[in-house]
Amino acid sequence: MIPILMLNGPNLNLLGAREPGIYGIETLEQIAARLSPVARELGVELHWEQRNGEGELIDLLHGAAHWASGVVFNPGAYSHYSYAIADAIAAISTPVIEVHLSNIYAREHYRRRSVISPVASGVISGVGALGYELGLRAAVELALRAGPKGGSLGALRPHEQTEKG
Ligand code: DQA
Repeated sequence: MIPILMLNGPNLNLLGAREPGIYGIETLEQIAARLSPVARELGVELHWEQRNGEGELIDLLHGAAHWASGVVFNPGAYSHYSYAIADAIAAISTPVIEVHLSNIYAREHYRRRSVISPVASGVISGVGALGYELGLRAAVELALRAGPKGGSLGALRPHEQTEKG
């Protein structure tokens, strides 16, 4: 079984009730239930966590470095300004797929920038709850490429590349 952490940041505990026109009508529990047959099909053991606090999310990311083969992470509003969370992702070698239910590039100006994206292995934004399933499939693909003992993904992760321009 491939262990994957499905991590959710602030206010995502309110999914289903929170601005349903933007984030949909499904609760996090319903999304998790819908993904469980997909996880079974992929041979994945899913661990769902949601925290509102920045430090708690950082602790979960540090912990995931020791047991998870990948992380699918919706950092919520922290995406737009938490350098502490970005640093935590850069500090671990576990691949992190950043997921947003809404298309952050088509929203308010302050949401159009994610400080997480430069350290994420991939980003999915704007396809609603389907993003969690796509993120899971991407995380599994990266985990399989890395092999059972971890190792090279065959390419530098974005934050390992020299920043140009
Ligand atoms: C979000 C987008 C963020 O801007 C927002 O603060 C959220 C949810 C999304 O899933 O679309 O809480 O990450």
